[in-house]
Amino acid sequence: MSQYISNCEKYKQDIIDRFEPAYVMEKFFSDDEIQMLMDYQFQNAKRVKARPSSGNIQSVVSVQRMFKTHKWLTHKFTEALGVFDSVQTGNFYITIQHHDAHVDLINEEEIKDPVFQNLIPWKSVVFPLFLSEDADCYTAYMHQRRIGYAATFDRESLTQQDNSSYKLFREYDGFLDVNGNPMPGTNDSPGWSSEKYPLISKENFSGFSEESVFKQVTGDVMVFDACQVHASCQPEGTHKHWLKNGMNIQFYKTAV
Ligand SMILES: [Fe+2]
Repeated sequence: MSQYISNCEKYKQDIIDRFEPAYVMEKFFSDDEIQMLMDYQFQNAKRVKARPSSGNIQSVVSVQRMFKTHKWLTHKFTEALGVFDSVQTGNFYITIQHHDAHVDLINEEEIKDPVFQNLIPWKSVVFPLFLSEDADCYTAYMHQRRIGYAATFDRESLTQQDNSSYKLFREYDGFLDVNGNPMPGTNDSPGWSSEKYPLISKENFSGFSEESVFKQVTGDVMVFDACQVHASCQPEGTHKHWLKNGMNIQFYKTAV
């Protein structure tokens, strides 16, 4: 067992005590800050990952280095969220496609790096940097939390995950609600429709239920529990052809 997973077990109650419903920080970033972040992904990319299967291009940059270079980011997020460990994970993305249900956390590849040994999950943020005109991009945050590694939930094996370092779950287990109470791995897929979740089948949605759905707005930042399952969605009647560039960052607490 990795040190990270034993931290998750040892500090489980601390992690649960910090759970709270997802929310939006409106007008968090100025136009200049958004432009700086957008430039950063191209000026500092080590390489580019591109996946035809998910319509996704990612510039590979070190989020930790970005925070070290741009100290204002640490100050801004500390002021808004509270104190976090100096190690962050995350990535930029450019995509035309929805994302299926997942949890962004440390993955089993990253855990080999000793800098990740002393962390426990805390908060995640997602924010757009660029949205095409009239883009209606939404993210649904589920009631379900799962403490552990980064995970993708696909019991029907619908999506290709060959390039993903996220742990792929064929059977859903270990879900907790916002108070830390266990939740079942299946349900009758409340809130699901094929129009709203074009990339998630009803069977794959079973086990999830929406806590909240937020529209992506440039400058705004969506904040949620790093352990919280989320997915992109397309509420009925919204404009489904779009291009988005954005970023997700995971903040951790130091395990002490
Ligand atoms: Fe995510």
